[in-house]
Amino acid sequence: MEQKVSASPTGMNSLPMDGATIDALKRAAGYRAAEYVRSDTAIGLGSGSTARYATLRIAERLREGSLRGIVAVPTSEETAALARQEGIPLTDLAERPCLDVTIDGADEVDPDLQLIKGLGGALLREKIVAHATRREIIVVDEGKLVERLGTRSPVPVEVIRFGWQNTMRSLEQTGARCALRLTRGAPFGTDEGNLIVDCTYPGIDDPVALEREINNIPGVVENGLFLGIAYAVVVASPGGVRNLERG
Ligand code: A5P
Repeated sequence: MEQKVSASPTGMNSLPMDGATIDALKRAAGYRAAEYVRSDTAIGLGSGSTARYATLRIAERLREGSLRGIVAVPTSEETAALARQEGIPLTDLAERPCLDVTIDGADEVDPDLQLIKGLGGALLREKIVAHATRREIIVVDEGKLVERLGTRSPVPVEVIRFGWQNTMRSLEQTGARCALRLTRGAPFGTDEGNLIVDCTYPGIDDPVALEREINNIPGVVENGLFLGIAYAVVVASPGGVRNLERG
């Protein structure tokens, strides 16, 4: 099923694309990734507009009969609602601590398949579910491919409410321009009741060191750097869909 190619920079993400084209690419990536799911397994369901298509396709496969016996752990309340609506049986990590596959989106993917995630605000549950997963499959349109992390997207950091201003000041000391995430003028609250600080860097030279530095700040719950986590990245472009796998 999988076409193996090395995860090299494509330089293909410079063409402007309209919303309908991007949505078609997200759908193509999500649908392709749903093929990774095997019958009689426990899986993770990601969050965001691209992962949503994978969830829809998994539900379709269950209805068609090409897939059976799966149970799923959702990475957000929104995904849980979608899965319920589509008839995908849900479970949790208490019942199924090890997941065969999780299909999730990303905001940036670098040539080493390192990721930034969390623009949708679900990074904490996403990272917990990814950590429980044998094969984390990431679905993106090619616009998410970058040469260097931090060049397109901020790093979202989930912080607790208590003393968040101090936590944000400490995050600024890591070299970021920081902003508390707002929705309609009010602080955005995560599914766990925390806040998100979006940290914009002028490109990230050492993601591993940065991840450690961020998570050592008191008040930080988790950050959106997903390093060494992706098993494969399904990339959709106008020319077709390809699977990048760790070499
Ligand atoms: C959700 O918190 C995120 O990690 C999403 O997976 C990520 O933001 C990608 O979302 P889209 O597929 O909607 O771009």
